[in-house]
Amino acid sequence: MPFPLPALPQIPPEIVALTDYEPLARQHLGEKAWAYFSGGAADEITLQDNRSAFDQIKLLPRVLRDMKGGHTRVSLLGQTFEHPILLAPIAYQRMAHEDGELATVLGASALNAGMVVSTRASVPIEDIAAASQTQLWFQLYMQPDREFTRQLVKRAEAAGYTTLVLTVDAPLNGIRNRQQRAQFSMPAGVEAINLRDMVPPDMRPRMAGENVAFGALLDVAPTWEDAEWLLSITKLPVILKGVLSPEDAEMAIVRGFAGIIVSNHGGRILDTMPATIDVLPQIASKVAGRVPILLDGGIRRGTDVLKAIALGASAVLVGRPYIFGLSVGGAVGVAHVLNILRAEFEVAMGLTGCATVDQIQPSVIWKR
Ligand code: FNR
Ligand code: LAC
Repeated sequence: MPFPLPALPQIPPEIVALTDYEPLARQHLGEKAWAYFSGGAADEITLQDNRSAFDQIKLLPRVLRDMKGGHTRVSLLGQTFEHPILLAPIAYQRMAHEDGELATVLGASALNAGMVVSTRASVPIEDIAAASQTQLWFQLYMQPDREFTRQLVKRAEAAGYTTLVLTVDAPLNGIRNRQQRAQFSMPAGVEAINLRDMVPPDMRPRMAGENVAFGALLDVAPTWEDAEWLLSITKLPVILKGVLSPEDAEMAIVRGFAGIIVSNHGGRILDTMPATIDVLPQIASKVAGRVPILLDGGIRRGTDVLKAIALGASAVLVGRPYIFGLSVGGAVGVAHVLNILRAEFEVAMGLTGCATVDQIQPSVIWKR
């Protein structure tokens, strides 16, 4: 597909923070793709809150601690990561760069960052795995056709994906006013290529004036029973993504999920959901260390990573910023975004007296 501006051969020196990418990304993506990638649901209150909630939290520095031998390594589900920052699953990346997910995986590999590949990736999942030098997880949207879903899972296993991430917070798209105003539609040449052979569910309205959600869409949406079926057909650990309720976290753990991702889908689904960082403490207290918790939504600074870990997360995922890096600088842009965030996180650790990620405790959060 044509891009308003092709990716740059090198990153402009004035880009020093993740949000510095935004104005340039908008030019590279064009208004329609910008509306898709950057937008949220309805009035975008959750989208904004994901950010502002982090800014409200203040850090308490500690001085004169012994920081020798410090590092950012973490272990998650028996896998070691150089730092606790993963790439969140984002659909249709060939709409941001001609190489799409293949460029992203090179950037992730350069920084040893785990990457979660979307069911709606625009490149075959096997090709992404073949290009990868890092740990890949596969994000699953359960398909109405169980046999097709099973085959997708088997493909991910065979290609070497080490963990499944079942996303359950988006059985429907949200009310996407920003996309509507920009008259967004999927450009020719970009598709959810890994779903190509699937027979789509019958989405035709059954009678005039039929509700937009109940009926065709929600009739085929997965339930806890389908989640149990998924756990029964794979040997891979499965993490549940899109949990905001402590009760849902509990239901996931008792059924055998290996972890939880606290996420509101980047504010794209139901507007006026709370910010993820605001619900994290309640979920962490319910989970009580039984499984790892990850968090995404609004991570833009290394201090955000530190805050999420202090409040109970084992790791975080970053979404839109790496797409903006991808659109501006391809693989190099993705690597640069990750490098900025990782470096900021190290500085935040150093200045709060945390030599290792384990040492990031609630006490780094200032209390009034
Ligand atoms: C997403 N997200 C998402 N999640 C998922 O499980 N599967 C998917 O295919 C997608 N696709 C997708 C597309 C776009 C354009 C966005 C912005 C987001 C949600 C994503 O994984 C993550 O939860 C949020 O993006 C995190 O918030 P930030 O970092 O973008 O604020
Ligand atoms: C989105 C879907 C693809 O957020 O998850 O656009």
